[in-house]
Amino acid sequence: MYLEGDSLNSTSYVLAVILAAGEGKRMYSKKPKVLHEICGKAMVQHVVDCAREAGVSETVVVVGHGASQVQDKLIDVKFAYQEQQLGTGHAVMQAESFITSGEVLVLYGDTPLLTPETIDKMYEFHKQGGFDATVLTAEMGNPFSYGRIIRDVEGKVLDIVEERDADPEQKKIKEINSGIYLFNGLFLKDALKELKNDNNQNEYYLTDVIKIFNDKNLKVGAYKIENPEEIMGVNNRLQLSQAASIMTRRILEAHMLNGVTIIDPASTYIDATVKIEKDVTILPGCMIKGNTYIEEDAIIGPYATISDSHVGKGVSIKNSVVMESRIGEGTTVGPFAYLRPGNVIGKHAKIGDFVEMKNSNFGDYSKVSHLTYVGDGDVGSGVNLGCGVVFVNYDGKKKHRTKVEDNSFVGCNVNLVAPVVLGKNSYIAAGTTVTRNVPEESLAIGRARQENIEGWVRRKGLTKEEE
Ligand code: UD1
Ligand code: CA
Repeated sequence: MYLEGDSLNSTSYVLAVILAAGEGKRMYSKKPKVLHEICGKAMVQHVVDCAREAGVSETVVVVGHGASQVQDKLIDVKFAYQEQQLGTGHAVMQAESFITSGEVLVLYGDTPLLTPETIDKMYEFHKQGGFDATVLTAEMGNPFSYGRIIRDVEGKVLDIVEERDADPEQKKIKEINSGIYLFNGLFLKDALKELKNDNNQNEYYLTDVIKIFNDKNLKVGAYKIENPEEIMGVNNRLQLSQAASIMTRRILEAHMLNGVTIIDPASTYIDATVKIEKDVTILPGCMIKGNTYIEEDAIIGPYATISDSHVGKGVSIKNSVVMESRIGEGTTVGPFAYLRPGNVIGKHAKIGDFVEMKNSNFGDYSKVSHLTYVGDGDVGSGVNLGCGVVFVNYDGKKKHRTKVEDNSFVGCNVNLVAPVVLGKNSYIAAGTTVTRNVPEESLAIGRARQENIEGWVRRKGLTKEEE
């Protein structure tokens, strides 16, 4: 939060109006454009979060195309509905009933790189300059397709002209309209009533409000930002990927400056929603997604994909996939483990190679070193699961649980047919198929007794001669 000076805060009412009704034709997508994700969050969610972090009092999202899908994704905001997309000015008109005498901050749902710091600085500029309208602008090397800022000789902002409506001289102007504005609410309401659609696209342009303000002798300012990256609009999937790589770089830089070692930022992807403590090391080839939290000293990778998981202190996860799981302090995972959703793994445990685990509890100091399936299991502490153990959890209709109590030892190539309980300190001989509960401190052995048929190989003429 930014509370100094003329910052956004609780004493001044600021309504954010986020325009998100457009279809985004150039995405060629079934999904509304603003729901396409960047670093694990829908673009419009980034904008909503940015406004919230900047400290706006309330947010209205103008929805139209795919309205119900957009509404389903967003919480703690109000909605205005724009039935037909008749332009940015028309979109703001739909939010009119929310507009009061406070300030109105207009944002677009497809500019996900905007930061709260920029909103805050713009707000300060707007307040200190005593402006009735402030437009956020930037100098663009290639201003094509953007609205151009028309200033008079003294630098006063007179108008904004769209690319399609611009004459050759205006097209040379490099200062562009970001589409982000602050308005005095009451003056904005009045100006919206005067908007016309007599332009190249027959739309009600919000940009025309600037000229209307000038005609009424209201004070119009432009706050120019240094880094045009922030106001980049996403209109197609190429721009989506460009915006994502900028956002990824920002996320990685922030983690590194907070004490996370990232060996190869170029091959590391971390969602905006992930939290990582200091002294974590991330090796190349990792994707860390969703609501993941990683505690200090963990070593992630190489080549790990982790989503929606809690990774304890000092955990190591190599070449593995981890989903919706909790992993306790000092546990090692992988290489080549697959943790599907719903596992709670204790401290100092070992989940080795080619182990698949789902919906299971796995206690402290327990080990499953290789080639094992643990499904719907409740494994105590100090348990050893040998190579090739299968939790037979599915009878074709229902899933059942397997309980392995503390300090039990399960030999190699054992089937545990659920529902079944192995008591504390039990031993299961290699190759056993367990179908009945095993009492504490007992050995279960269930396999055909071995027979040796002596001389059989010789009699069959199968003996190989020594060289
Ligand atoms: C707009 C600006 C342009 C600016 C550019 C910056 C106008 C007339 N032009 O142009 O000066 O340089 O943004 O990116 O404002 N939307 C609605 N309802 C509508 C129309 C648009 O909700 O009826 C939403 C879209 O979903 C989008 C945003 O408003 O999020 C911008 O609309 P878009 O059509 O992309 O405007 P531009 O032509 O890019
Ligand atoms: Ca646009």
